[in-house]
Amino acid sequence: MDATAIVELLGTPETRADPYPLYEQAHRLGPVVRVSDMLVLVTGYAAVDRVLRDRDFGVIDRELTATIFGDHFEPPSLELFGRSILQTNQPAHTRMRAPIAAVFTPRRIAAMRPAVERAVDRLLDDLAEAGRGGEPVDFMDRFAFPLPVGVICELLGVPEADRRRFRGSAHDLMTALEFMTVERDLTAADRAAVELQGYFAELVARRRAHPSEDLVGALVARRDADPDGGITDAELIANLVLLLVAGFETTTNLLGNGLALLFGHDGARTALAEGKLPPGDFVEEVLRYDSPVQLTSRIALRDGLGIEGVAVPRFGEVLLLIGAANRDPVRFPEARRFDPWRAEIAPLSFGAGMHYCVGAMLARLEATVAFPRLLARFPALAQAPGAVRDDRLLLRGYGELPVTVGG
Ligand code: HEM
Repeated sequence: MDATAIVELLGTPETRADPYPLYEQAHRLGPVVRVSDMLVLVTGYAAVDRVLRDRDFGVIDRELTATIFGDHFEPPSLELFGRSILQTNQPAHTRMRAPIAAVFTPRRIAAMRPAVERAVDRLLDDLAEAGRGGEPVDFMDRFAFPLPVGVICELLGVPEADRRRFRGSAHDLMTALEFMTVERDLTAADRAAVELQGYFAELVARRRAHPSEDLVGALVARRDADPDGGITDAELIANLVLLLVAGFETTTNLLGNGLALLFGHDGARTALAEGKLPPGDFVEEVLRYDSPVQLTSRIALRDGLGIEGVAVPRFGEVLLLIGAANRDPVRFPEARRFDPWRAEIAPLSFGAGMHYCVGAMLARLEATVAFPRLLARFPALAQAPGAVRDDRLLLRGYGELPVTVGG
């Protein structure tokens, strides 16, 4: 199989159901392969890591979109991501990320632990209630989704009453980032972008009128203290939407993928339940083995670039398969085996370099708190029939994961 066939197969339902056999084929071609004049595929761990850290490879920001594709109408969903740090290059990236990093500090995240523990315990109570009498309950709906939503909304200061309604909008908006080989329909994503921006514009206005300690309040205060040098209101709102949506489907999938792996690996399950396997090691291996984010891409910002001997022309695209890099046999012996005891896991699931995930610490906190408590509360937790994978490639997770909680 050649590189062109691999990229075509990435867009098929079979690959979305299970991309790993295709990644193994890709590894046989080498860590970096040319697909066409303007497209290079990268699946090796070292090469993906290097490109993510190399500032000569950037994201397709608004300026580049206009340069490459000309002046054209940008759908609201893409425009929103284009105003966020996720799709901004230097120097604007640092200008926008600095105020976010200043309020999204390790200290603030670590201080969230008691709140995360409370949120986990509350959701476990709900699971127990819903699963009484052996009734199967959907772990995704009852736990994996509400936990990250509750936590990020708590941090941002989004009132409880508004949280549930974000599920559909966030899901719709994230489809705008999905990998597609065919023309995309962005109608739902655009509607979600307009709705979420409207919501945060109002919340920002409220925080401006009534200052608060939460993240939105802290960002508004920062922005207003430095109206020229910092971040504009439109950028602030786009980044708040990003913080909301980037945080939940991804963490939701980490929780679902991790639980499904626990069901299939009794040794890890017992060790985790008995406190013999550090929850952090388990979570790192889940991230490696079944990454919630499977891919990203970069574009060459200047002429004369290359990756491990493969030339990339200016504006050439580089497809970075994070999910494949995490299974690179050169980096991970027996990459196909789920082994939370392996040394130095360091998956690329949160990216690397200047776009390294802002929420990595928070996602790890939620997952490391959740799994041991889940097993302690429900020793007889078991998978029930009817698990459904989401039909997506970029965000890999379960749509439904029914479980019985036992006695
Ligand atoms: C960036 C994955 C949770 C906010 C990223 C990137 C990845 C990623 C791969 C880099 C994308 C690229 O370089 O193209 C994940 C995974 C998560 C997770 C796997 C959960 C398991 C979160 C959470 C938040 C968050 C909880 C927010 C609270 C962000 C933001 C960026 C980002 C704002 C953009 C950073 C930048 O461009 O400078 N994430 N993420 N993520 N993530 Fe996460």
